[in-house]
Amino acid sequence: MSEYLPPEASGPPQPANVPLRGTEHGAALGPSFYETVGGRPMFEKLVAEFYRGVASDPVLKPMYPEDDLGPAAERLTMFLEQYWGGPGTYSEQRGHPRLRMRHQPFKVNPDARDRWLAHMRVAVDSLDLPPLAEETLWDYLQRAAYAMVNTFDE
Ligand code: HEM
Repeated sequence: MSEYLPPEASGPPQPANVPLRGTEHGAALGPSFYETVGGRPMFEKLVAEFYRGVASDPVLKPMYPEDDLGPAAERLTMFLEQYWGGPGTYSEQRGHPRLRMRHQPFKVNPDARDRWLAHMRVAVDSLDLPPLAEETLWDYLQRAAYAMVNTFDE
């Protein structure tokens, strides 16, 4: 009798936020990245640390329409939770993310992107995640930030 290897042990590497399913619409075979890294409290901490940096940034802070960054922090937390396999509250409240479209009103040039990423880097470091989880999260944040650039105007 040949030994049965479950797909998670034998298949190709999977994106961390796409759960493997037993059948096409079946239950997820393992915990989501969201659960693995500690759920809501981890994402709240990430975003709180990030916005601490944004609040002191002379380029980014003026871009935020509201003086209070609290509501923006809540939207980013909900988005990240949903993206990584947690509750879908973001889309229940805000609809489809369409993030590039939602960033069109703002001047996201390479300087803004690099500032955004610098604050995110400090925030990610504050979490003390296991190296693989940290790399997975950081890789995504970098790609997302590069994709959000909508102008090269200074
Ligand atoms: C690259 C530089 C970026 C800049 C300068 C930037 C700036 C902003 C600003 C000014 C807002 C409006 C604040 C609000 O009303 O919520 C916003 C919203 C938002 N941003 Fe960014 N952002 C950047 C990248 C990103 C990235 C990479 C992500 C996701 C990984 C992201 C996720 C969001 C989300 C979820 C919202 C709220 C959208 C909504 O539901 O209205 N942003 N961003």
